[in-house]
This record gives sequence, C-alpha cells and structure tokens, in this order.
Amino acid sequence: MSGLVVAIDGPAAAGKGTLARRLAAALDLAYLDTGSLYRAVALALLRAGSGRPDEATATAAARRLDRRLLGDPALRDEATGRLASMVAAMPGVRAALLDLQRDFAAHPPDGKAGAVLDGRDVGTVVCPDATVKLFVTASAETRALRRHGELAGADAAPSLARVRAELVSRDARDSARATAPLVPAADAHLLDTSDLSIEEVFARAKAIIETARTRRS
Ligand code: DC
Repeated sequence: MSGLVVAIDGPAAAGKGTLARRLAAALDLAYLDTGSLYRAVALALLRAGSGRPDEATATAAARRLDRRLLGDPALRDEATGRLASMVAAMPGVRAALLDLQRDFAAHPPDGKAGAVLDGRDVGTVVCPDATVKLFVTASAETRALRRHGELAGADAAPSLARVRAELVSRDARDSARATAPLVPAADAHLLDTSDLSIEEVFARAKAIIETARTRRS
C-alpha cells in the first residue's frame, strides 16, 4: 500500500500552512507548500520584468522552475502572491507543476512514510486518492486579521482594509477559474477555524487522520 497522503486545501490565510507544518512534524511526514511553487513562478516572472505574462511565457517559466526561489523571502510579498494567483489560473502553468507535486506525494523525500501537501486543488486534482482530505476555511474577517497581524512590523505594512480586499479578490480569482478551482473535494472534512485556536484545529485534524489511518490498516 502506498504512503499516507494528507491533502489540505482552502482559501488564503485560513491557517492551512500552520496546520500542515504541525501535522507533518507530529506525524513525521514530508511537507509541500504547493502555493510556493506558483509563487516561485510569479517571482521568476517579476524578476524577468514580466509582470503581465501571457500563458506561453508563464508556462515556460513554470517548466524551468528554479527551486532555489522556493527559499527566497520575496516569495511572501503581496505582489508575488497576486501574480501567483493570476498565473495559477493558466492551464499550461498548472500542467507544468502537476507532476512535481504528484511525484512528491508518491515518493516523499528523506525516506518519509508519507506526505502532507497544502494548496487549493490537492484533494481534487493533485491527489484525488489522498488518504485524508481537509478543507480549511475561516471567515474573511478572521483571515484578514491574521494576515494583517503577520505583516505588522514589516516596512510599509498594508492597512487591514487593504489586506481584506486583497484576500477577497484572490479568493474570487482562485474559486472562479475554469481549471482546478478552489472547491472542497466531495470527500473532504471541512474545518472552519474562525473560532478555533491553532491547538484546537491541530487536535481535530489529527483525530481525523488517526481515524483514517486505523481504517486503512
Ligand atoms: O497559498 P498561497 O497564498 O501561497 O498560494 C498562492 C497562489 O497560488 C494562490 O492565490 C492560488 C495559487 N495556488 C493554486 O492555484 N493551487 C495550489 N495548489 C496552490 C496555490
């Protein structure tokens, strides 16, 4: 039987990344932030002066993705996130990044027995046979407050209203695109984190995974 695969999807700033990292550490699984791949494509394009790329240009950038960009601090910039969401709507870009993600899930690095992947379409497209699928959400207000808190202290930190508007427009683009839109898989467990602490979200997710593990063994 293949390894344990945990797919975590949901809108921006819902707490997917924190949850995924904690689960991977607690269960000794490999972790892939699939959004960072789209961000790396966007960053490569921005650095090449291609702020409004056509699909052929963006797809070529995705095919020759430089993995060193995955550790670049500019990956987290608002401009990078915005362009990532735009190139993520292009089928050619998604196709170029698909095998890499599937390969990570099927052959987790460092001899790990499984993997946690987070993103928008992990449970629906990348790993439709994942052992466990979680769809993590929170209200736009909660997500804007969290993201604003993360950005506080940075130079030129945006206002709360601007962070909220940016999140809402990114959700709309990610949900409305024709290819691999942000939607929960039919068999995903929904986790609304609006009124839950990180500890509570972690405990619920871990319980869901343990139940699934027991069933398959
Ligand atoms: O999770 P994030 O904010 O780092 O993702 C950046 C963008 O990448 C997001 O707006 C949509 C896109 N994305 C995607 O389309 N599919 C994924 N599996 C992950 C991210």
